[in-house]
Amino acid sequence: MTNQDLSAFIDTTDEWIVSRTGIRERHIASDKETTATLGLKAAQAALDIADILPTEIDLIICATSTPEYIFPSTASLIQAWLGASTSGAFDLSAACSGFVYGVDMATQAIKSGSIRTAVVIGTETFSRILDWTDRGTCILFGDGAGAVVLTASSVEGGVLSSVLRSDGSGGDLLGVPSVGSIDISSIPTLDESHKMGKMFMNGGEVFKFATRVIGESITQALDIAGLTIADLKAIVPHQANIRIIQAAARSLKVDESIFVCNMDRYANTSAASIPIALVEAVQQGRIKPGDNIAFVGFGGGLSWAAMVVKWGVPPPEERGRVLSRQRRQVLYRVAWWRVLLGRTLRQLNDVINRIRPERGRMERLRRNYDRSER
Ligand code: UT7
Repeated sequence: MTNQDLSAFIDTTDEWIVSRTGIRERHIASDKETTATLGLKAAQAALDIADILPTEIDLIICATSTPEYIFPSTASLIQAWLGASTSGAFDLSAACSGFVYGVDMATQAIKSGSIRTAVVIGTETFSRILDWTDRGTCILFGDGAGAVVLTASSVEGGVLSSVLRSDGSGGDLLGVPSVGSIDISSIPTLDESHKMGKMFMNGGEVFKFATRVIGESITQALDIAGLTIADLKAIVPHQANIRIIQAAARSLKVDESIFVCNMDRYANTSAASIPIALVEAVQQGRIKPGDNIAFVGFGGGLSWAAMVVKWGVPPPEERGRVLSRQRRQVLYRVAWWRVLLGRTLRQLNDVINRIRPERGRMERLRRNYDRSER
């Protein structure tokens, strides 16, 4: 969806959106797509690149603010469709910082020895929670997903440092009023700009917060890793607004080109924005094995997170598999049929129970009881 497309139904212009945000277009999920289907595709693409089987995954973390349900988790849906039969799965809610939080959680689990391989997914369908009459927010977001595979490896590097932060006092600055443990009608701020199930944001305040925390948290993460900004090959930031990145570059005293930016083509995809930009940078050869890079996310909570990573790829002997791609495809098929069959059988059982006369059921129970007595 281009800015032009937007200006057909909302009072905005391509010129305003490009000059204030750097965004030119965004992708919108089709009616059949959901946060889980997008996340599944991203996870499958990541497994292809890592060349591992879904049965080798120990943990799936899905960072999202737009899950299909409160529960089951989107991660569990993806786990079932992948056929990751021996994997744990959970959703992580840290808004636009979620991916960096997720990578940190997976890294700690691998370092502790409790797991060997994790998939971290950032996936969102913000188009479903946007108020399409609010030009202050609906022009900013898009749908998308990205994923990475993390694994224990003999290659030196990986995550060198993480800084995870939160300031919940700014929780009123952006969010989505929705079904939960709070009586929504009791929220004093629920008004025209705070609609049930729709995202609201105080853009100006979030802008100021973002420009402050990017520089601060990257500097802290670099200090912990024992590196300086000159050691970084690239910074992959959350893709909210090009002006935020320009301000951060000024505060870090670095050239803007160190930041990987693609918000012009995807807009703000929240937890998915960092993995999408990361994957593009790797595919373009901008990030190579051995490079030091940084991630920085910021958003609702308020939450923010920075991380320094030495980009490493395990050697082929640690991951070489025969016919892995074909085996993955077979496992996906089996997983899909397993989900479908299980659900269909449960539905069939429900129907049979509903049409069976109650008396017949009681008689069967009595017969079973008599038999067991005998
Ligand atoms: O992922 C979570 C993190 N989120 C962010 O980081 C978002 C941070 N905030 C921002 O990126 C910016 O604050 C926005 C892009 C949301 C807004 O940019 P701004 O430069 O702060 O604009 P503004 O809200 O101060 O609005 C300036 C003017 C207003 O008109 P008046 O009152 O000056 O007459 C708005 O009504 O621009 C108007 N405006 C628009 N005009 C055309 C606001 N939205 C639009 C629009 N098209 N879409």
